Amino acid sequence: MRILLVNGPNLNTLGTREPAIYGRTTLPQIVDAASARAAELGAELRAFQANGEGEIIDWLQRERGDAAGLIINAGALTHYGIALRDAVAACELPAIEVHISNVWRREGFRHESLLSPVVSGAIVGLGAHGYLLAVEALVRIIKGVE
Ligand code: DQA
Repeated sequence: MRILLVNGPNLNTLGTREPAIYGRTTLPQIVDAASARAAELGAELRAFQANGEGEIIDWLQRERGDAAGLIINAGALTHYGIALRDAVAACELPAIEVHISNVWRREGFRHESLLSPVVSGAIVGLGAHGYLLAVEALVRIIKGVE
């Protein structure tokens, strides 16, 4: 069972990016921990990060065929990326949206997510640990556990 993990713009700078908001965990650390949790649950995680919406869409179109599910933190694209939303919908994969910060406690423009209507669920505001929770939730959904 292969699951995809996509991180959008600026998430490559986790660790040093506004640590009061996003913590000090780096993206490689997140990917390693999520891969290890996925492996424990019998899944293989394939991760990708890009700053450009088109690169992410290209990657999703390439990878979706061999995948059972998707975890996505689209960064700011969450709030305005219509083409990315359409690509996620077109994947027809169970998907979990992740946000490290609690977007509901932040600026009003972060309160709208174009992705939320096309994903199974969202994990918001629980820091880097949210990615591990997303792996667990996604594997349960894929396995059909109620
Ligand atoms: C984010 C929240 C977004 O509003 C922001 O643009 C990000 C990160 C988060 O993980 O909390 O880049 O998706």
